[in-house]
Amino acid sequence: MNFIDLKRQYQEYKTEIDKRIADVIDNTRFIMGKELKDLEAELAAYAGAKHGIGVASGTDALLVPLAAYGVGPGDEVITTPFTFIATVEVISFLGATPVFVDIDSDDYNIDISKIESKITKKTKGIIPVSLYGQTPDLDKISAIGKKHGIFVLEDGAQSFGAVYKGRKSCGLTDVAGTSFYPSKPLGCYGDGGMIFTSDDALAEKMRMIMNHGSSQNYVHKYVGINARMDTLQAAVLLVKFAHFEKECDTRMRLGSRYTELLSGGKVITPKVSSTTDRHVYAQYSIRVKNRDALKEALAKESIPTAVHYPKPIHLQEAYQSLGHKTGDFPVSEQVSNEIISLPMHPFLTDGEQKLVAEKILGAVS
Ligand SMILES: Cc1ncc(COP(=O)(O)O)c(C=O)c1O
Repeated sequence: MNFIDLKRQYQEYKTEIDKRIADVIDNTRFIMGKELKDLEAELAAYAGAKHGIGVASGTDALLVPLAAYGVGPGDEVITTPFTFIATVEVISFLGATPVFVDIDSDDYNIDISKIESKITKKTKGIIPVSLYGQTPDLDKISAIGKKHGIFVLEDGAQSFGAVYKGRKSCGLTDVAGTSFYPSKPLGCYGDGGMIFTSDDALAEKMRMIMNHGSSQNYVHKYVGINARMDTLQAAVLLVKFAHFEKECDTRMRLGSRYTELLSGGKVITPKVSSTTDRHVYAQYSIRVKNRDALKEALAKESIPTAVHYPKPIHLQEAYQSLGHKTGDFPVSEQVSNEIISLPMHPFLTDGEQKLVAEKILGAVS
C-alpha cells in the first residue's frame, strides 16, 4: 500500500500526460508557454478569482504576494505555528516577524477568536492556513482584515478544490497561494504553485515580481526573483485538472468513509466544519494518545503513515530567536503530539481503507 499513489494515477492518465509533455518538448516553449497561460485561465476561473499566476512552488505563491505588499523589516504578519514551515519562513525571509496565534482544536486551523488581540500597529497581514484540505471561516478572517486595513493571504497549499460556503478555496481572500507539489490534491511532476487574486494592480505587480520585477525584457520596475512555473509542469497539470473535480469528490467520499470506519471513540477523527461543503483531505489525519506506537504497529503491517507536523514552528530551532517556549501554544503542541496521517489518495480502494481502519482499531486501546 502507498501513502499517496502517484503511479496508479499516472497509469490512468498516461496517454494524455505523455502526449501533453511530448507537445511541449516538440514546440520547445519551456518557459511561459501557451500551456501555462491556459492553466492560469482555467484555474483562476475554477477558484473564482480574476487572476491566476503560475509560480515555481507553493512557497513562492506565498513569498511573491508578501513581497508585493511590501512586507519587510519592522512588519508583523499573523499566522499559526501548526503548519508547514513554508507559511512562516516566507515572512522571516523578507525580514518581517511572524506572530503566532494558536489553532482551533476542532479543525486545526487558526483560532479566529484570538486573532484581534495579536494585531498591533506593525501588523501588515494575516496568513490563515487551510490545513489538511478545509478552509477556516475565511469570511470572518477577511472581515477582521478589512476592519484593521490589513491583507489576508490564504495559504491554500493543501486546500485547492475545497469548497467553503459554496465558494472555492483560493478565491475567498485578498490573495491566495496554492502548491502543486506532487503529493498535493492537484500535483504536478516537480515543484509548482499558483497565486490567485481579483485585485488587478496587485496581480500586475506580482506577475512582475515573480519574473525579475519585469514585464518587458531588461526593464525592471521592482526588485524581483525568478519564480516562474515551467511549461512542462503546466502541461501535466492541464491533464490532471480535467480529472480534478471527480478526484475531489472521491477524496471527500473516502474521507467520510474513513470517519465512519473509525467511529466509536477510540481515535479522534477529523471534524468537517459547518462552513465546509467539500473537504479535499490533502491529509486524512486522526489523533491518538499513543501516536508513535500506532505508527510503529501500522508500519509492521506495511501500512505507511506520516506526521503532519511533529513539532510546531515556534519550537523549531530556526525560530528560537522569537523566544517562545513549550506551553505558549498549547493546542498546537498537543495536536503535534497526537496527530497521524493515513494513506489517502483518490485511487485508494475500499479494501485498503477497511484494512487500515481494522489495523488501527486493533492497535489502539
Ligand atoms: C501549508 C503549506 N504551505 C506551503 C507549502 C509550500 O509548498 P511547496 O512545497 O510547493 O513550496 C506547503 C507544501 O508542502 C504546505 O503544506
